[in-house]
Amino acid sequence: MTTQEMMSAFEQAYGHKAEKMYFAPGRVNLIGEHTDYNGGCVFPCALSFGAWLLIAKNEDQVLRFRSLNMPQTYNIALSAICPQPDKAWCNYALGCLDIIKRRHPEAALKSGYDLLYYGNVPAGAGLSSSAAMEVVTARAFTEEMSAVSCQSSDDKAYRTELALIGQACEHEYAGVMCGIMDQFASAQGKKDHAIYLNCDTLEFEHVPVKLDGIKVVITNTHSPHHLDSGAYNDRVRQCKLAVEQISKVKPIKFLAELTEEDWKEVQSAITDPIAFKRARHVVGEVARTAAAVEALKRGEIAYFGELMTASHVSLRDDYEVTGPELDALAEAAWQVEGVLGSRMTGGGFGGCTVSLVKDEAIEQFKAFVGKEYEEKTGLKADFYVAEIGDGVARLA
Ligand code: GLA
Repeated sequence: MTTQEMMSAFEQAYGHKAEKMYFAPGRVNLIGEHTDYNGGCVFPCALSFGAWLLIAKNEDQVLRFRSLNMPQTYNIALSAICPQPDKAWCNYALGCLDIIKRRHPEAALKSGYDLLYYGNVPAGAGLSSSAAMEVVTARAFTEEMSAVSCQSSDDKAYRTELALIGQACEHEYAGVMCGIMDQFASAQGKKDHAIYLNCDTLEFEHVPVKLDGIKVVITNTHSPHHLDSGAYNDRVRQCKLAVEQISKVKPIKFLAELTEEDWKEVQSAITDPIAFKRARHVVGEVARTAAAVEALKRGEIAYFGELMTASHVSLRDDYEVTGPELDALAEAAWQVEGVLGSRMTGGGFGGCTVSLVKDEAIEQFKAFVGKEYEEKTGLKADFYVAEIGDGVARLA
């Protein structure tokens, strides 16, 4: 769908033109999985897939929500804004409005609005469609509500604040105690760059993704199994338990503070066998992520690929968030000549893998992985060559 078509759809839905239009992307994480809420580093890129939001003020003191992806519409009076029942999709937006007010007390909704959302992140693919919706809403409404304290002249700080608003919304309105990675990538993305982010300090660096003759290929499992908030929040708790037990011998705030050397000394302090495996993944993944970023900077893409594959193995064996579909995709990819590395990306269970594939091997990759995957799981995979795009923006 073109932006022109979205504009026409808005006019058709509301009988008047949209005044403004915004876009925020989804993301793919190259490496650094389940490290963000452990104070570690991540290395995601913003995609050209994402969420668009078109808005116009109305005279009716009502927020009207429509989406070109969802049949449900909501009309909510400004005097009665509260979360809607039955996992209503508008809660992601209402949550952001509420968090903006709480973090920026000067912010206020001064009129009603007509809103139209459109998203083209494949549904349930683990490519952060919800983060895109949160960040695009935060971008539009920090402006509309005159949250001046976050719209400082420092664009980087403003974008970080948009990510924090989105993350708080995910915690409080979706019940997922996620880290900052998805919203941060959506807010701070840069074309043809990955973001090397320290999730403790929120310091980051844009690293060029220069891959001569190699593409980043995303493969969608279309699996019905998803990392629900329960399984995700369990991992968060297990990591906290590991921190508590390790802190008896070496006080730490986050698992990511441990080097692999430290790990050898403190690992015996963890008495819970599940927490032990989770912690071992995090310590290894933090080291792999740092090594991968260095490898990319030096142009050692083959080594980068090996680290991606090692990341998948650790997520499969120690973090236990892959599942048969993601394993089938990764294992098939590893067999293809011209694949430098392949791993699950995002939260896990269902969703997507990310692979580095030489240009000349892409067709063979799709054919072989697609066939193996269907034979093993009965499902059809989808392939997208990733386009790394910019972060949230006002388009009109
Ligand atoms: C989900 C969460 C992120 C991150 C990843 C795993 O995408 O939203 O914060 O924890 O899982 O790396």
